[in-house]
Amino acid sequence: MTKKLNVGLIGYGFMGRTHSNAYRRVNNFFDVPYEPVLQVVCGLVEAEAKAFAEKWGYKSYTTDWHKVVEDENIDVVEICVPNNLHAEIAIAAAKAGKAIVCEKPLALNVAQAEEMVKAVEEAGVPNLVSFNYRRVPAVTLAKQLIDEGRLGKIFHYRANFLQDWTISKEVPQGGMATWRLDVKAAGSGVTGDLLAHCIDTAMWHNGPITDVCAMTETFVKERMHAETGKVEPVGIDDACTFICHYDNGSLGNFESSRYARGHKALYTFEINGEKASIAWDLHDLHRLSYFDHGDDSIVRGWRSIHVTDSDMPYMDKWWVPGLQIGYEHSFVHQAAEFLQNLAEGKSTSPDFREALATQYVCDAVLTSAKNKKWETVKKP
Ligand SMILES: NC(=O)c1ccc[n+]([C@@H]2O[C@H](COP(=O)([O-])OP(=O)(O)OC[C@H]3O[C@@H](n4cnc5c(N)ncnc54)[C@H](O)[C@@H]3O)[C@@H](O)[C@H]2O)c1
Repeated sequence: MTKKLNVGLIGYGFMGRTHSNAYRRVNNFFDVPYEPVLQVVCGLVEAEAKAFAEKWGYKSYTTDWHKVVEDENIDVVEICVPNNLHAEIAIAAAKAGKAIVCEKPLALNVAQAEEMVKAVEEAGVPNLVSFNYRRVPAVTLAKQLIDEGRLGKIFHYRANFLQDWTISKEVPQGGMATWRLDVKAAGSGVTGDLLAHCIDTAMWHNGPITDVCAMTETFVKERMHAETGKVEPVGIDDACTFICHYDNGSLGNFESSRYARGHKALYTFEINGEKASIAWDLHDLHRLSYFDHGDDSIVRGWRSIHVTDSDMPYMDKWWVPGLQIGYEHSFVHQAAEFLQNLAEGKSTSPDFREALATQYVCDAVLTSAKNKKWETVKKP
């Protein structure tokens, strides 16, 4: 028997669309105990919220997120707004007893993230943070191969996330379109926005990061603020590179930039183990590169696994072997697991506490860059 689950979405932008799309499709592909009902959408501009509600099938709309959180009819609150609003909304939603799906990064900073973990754990509400790349089948397959011991001892885990959309000095900071460049709304630049994804996936694959040594740069020091119209100092990191140790003895190096001309969203990782290596590239997300040193030497080499067979993660739910899926499906997988766990009153990984671990690494990275010293990462 499928039960109805009333969804309240806060934020109808990029992520509002991915979450709505996932809830609309999940029952068509996954047997889960709930059927999401898109009840209310909330956003800043009334006409846009209304248009979104009509397009995506929400029954009502509002511009006041408190109304969503306080609505007794709502079972789950989806937080898809800029980072500076996550804490206040999540804490209010936890107090109101709602299940919560929060976009990444969990919060602006560690202090807020700790408060959020406390709030959901005290209220005992199921929670999830949307580090969706874990649920790209090839990335999940990488986890399976590591857990099966196919790589043996891991020596290196490196990841990059490269973009090029802020190179022009004319791009403003702040406001609806460019809040990511305003430190008050975003908390940090590429570290919280892009590297948080890489760090979450890396710790899921390879275990905790213990200490970091980082450098950051802000290439454009001043930008016009879209809300005030004044030229103001830029407080975010435009680029960040760090090296680290993992608890298992392996070494990591990470790089992110929004100044890598030619790259739009190039998230890559490579993992080198004693017996095998793995590499993945978001631009070719349905493939996993794999090198197995155990192969006969005359056929040994990097192979490109097309992650579409039905015995590969999630793929039995989709089409037939050979036909691939894409970015949006990671959110459908996330929704499916969230709904399944919800029926048992459980949170879904990565929950707020796991996202706090990522926030601790981001915080250590920014502190290390500022102090020009190695920084130990706090444990959740
Ligand atoms: N998981 C991912 O891969 C991924 C990708 C992009 C963004 N994100 C995260 O998702 C969140 C939202 O990012 P986005 O790209 O969807 O942003 P966006 O700018 O596209 O949308 C933001 C939405 O928030 C709404 N909003 C802003 N202030 C509000 C307020 N006071 N009350 C109610 N609504 C308000 C706006 O109306 C808008 O609909 C951020 O935390 C971001 O880091 C995650």
